[in-house]
Amino acid sequence: TFCGNQEFGSLSKQIDWYKDHIKQQKEEIQSLKESFEQASEKLQRCEKLLRRKPISRNDENIPTIYLITPTHTRLEQKAELTRLSHTLRHVKNLHWIVIEDCDKKTNLVTNFLANCGVTYTHLYAETPAQVKLKSNDPNWLKPRGVLQRNAGLTWLRKNLNPESDKGVVYFADDDNTYDLDLFEEMRYTKKVSVWPVGLVGALRYEKRPFAMDMAGFAVNLKLIHDHPEALFSNTVPRGYQESTILKKMSLTLEDLEPKANNCKKILVWHTRTEKTKTKNEDKMKKKIGSGSDPNMEV
Ligand code: UGA
Ligand code: MN
Repeated sequence: TFCGNQEFGSLSKQIDWYKDHIKQQKEEIQSLKESFEQASEKLQRCEKLLRRKPISRNDENIPTIYLITPTHTRLEQKAELTRLSHTLRHVKNLHWIVIEDCDKKTNLVTNFLANCGVTYTHLYAETPAQVKLKSNDPNWLKPRGVLQRNAGLTWLRKNLNPESDKGVVYFADDDNTYDLDLFEEMRYTKKVSVWPVGLVGALRYEKRPFAMDMAGFAVNLKLIHDHPEALFSNTVPRGYQESTILKKMSLTLEDLEPKANNCKKILVWHTRTEKTKTKNEDKMKKKIGSGSDPNMEV
């Protein structure tokens, strides 16, 4: 009799309705949660992109700085490139030409550049074995970055229009330290501008017009086009790279434009990173059978 009771029948229908309703609400909450998670992931991605967004580089009225950087694989490479890219992100109208000393582009540099927030061109040129520095050689033994800088120069000559592309070319090694003012000093170089480099040649600073350090001069892009034969060479004596290329541009001492407060201010330092020792990797291998995960990018 109780089960046949009409009141009970409608009550249990009501309960079913509420159960259904609660189930629907739960599903809605779940889907809202999912959309919320998706939206916050999107927001995080946007925030990351914003952080990596290049500072306005679209000022057509100012010359572009073409920065040629040779780079080679070693444990400290990503750290050096990160530090340099963070400087470059503050420079307007800068085009970074990064040339790997490799027989092909590496994943590390490819991925790094894709997220670095600087306008770039990625190239590679391998130093031949007979002139390549071995890891335990003293680093003055052989020239470094020669073919890579030449690949950068060739790219400029092939890809830029000598009439319409105005700019200045600077050879920036991946391990030096650059003051932001340096880039504005060099931007309006007429022929070749020069400045002193700190911490170089076993001196506090070095300033030697024409036999200057790679970091101590910039060249107007027009000169690079006008002198297609001007390249670096692996066969010139030690210390003659810079003067060799400048000589080929038929310059006189009067053509050099002193910058950085008439060469009295240091705006670039030839800093050098100590080679990292990894002796504990071997100890770990002996002790627990394996070193650190080789798939972890450092
Ligand atoms: C000094 C000068 O600052 C360089 O401009 C000059 O090219 C070099 O001497 C030389 O005389 O050959 P240093 O600090 O002694 O440079 O050399 P590194 O910083 O080790 O190398 C210069 C550049 O070449 C760096 O950007 C580096 O990544 C690159 N490099 C080095 C290669 O592409 N391949 C190598 O095997 C070694
Ligand atoms: Mn260096």
